[in-house]
Amino acid sequence: MTRIPFAVMISGRGSNMIALLRAAEDEDFPGLPVLVLSNKPDAGGLLAARAHGVPSLCIDHRVFKKDREAFEREVDAALRAAGAEFVALAGFMRVLTPWFVHRWAGRLINIHPSLLPKYKGLDTHARAIEAGDAEAGCTVHYVNEGVDEGTIIDQARVPILPGDTPETLAARILPREHELYPQALKQALMQMPVR
Ligand code: GAR
Repeated sequence: MTRIPFAVMISGRGSNMIALLRAAEDEDFPGLPVLVLSNKPDAGGLLAARAHGVPSLCIDHRVFKKDREAFEREVDAALRAAGAEFVALAGFMRVLTPWFVHRWAGRLINIHPSLLPKYKGLDTHARAIEAGDAEAGCTVHYVNEGVDEGTIIDQARVPILPGDTPETLAARILPREHELYPQALKQALMQMPVR
């Protein structure tokens, strides 16, 4: 089986990224991680990626000031230099421009901690609790020009329990993210359009 080279983009601790790297340790997984890229130099996930033997790189978005596309051109060049053909965003907290999204159309997915289309953006757990929802969860979706929009690949649900805080709810959802994301990445890689 030819395994598709993929990159993971992070901004923080990278627990979802680790879940993807672990899944890809199975030689039957359809993807092979070739790069972990962070926009933040202090992202804990960079060290974790190194510990897994996957090349890691930081491209600090602050260097590019407000020029989002200049930042993304560097990112795009690094992804291509690493041979990546698919990108999984895993806690990558920068909005991407239409230029980047078009360049990677059909090859760019994201995980978001809500049952999309509910609660796009930030503070998803607090907003689900405040709304009195009975359940919350996480979604893996293709990335398009909108924020947290794009075709949904899969979702996982958890109950919201009495007394839940954003922290307790996030702690209930996160392990489900770690199960969902490798499965959804596998599915997306197997459906990837031919270049
Ligand atoms: C995860 O909960 C992920 O769903 C969320 O950030 C967290 C990153 O944790 N992503 C977003 O909110 C994107 N809109 P991790 O660094 O441990 O994977």
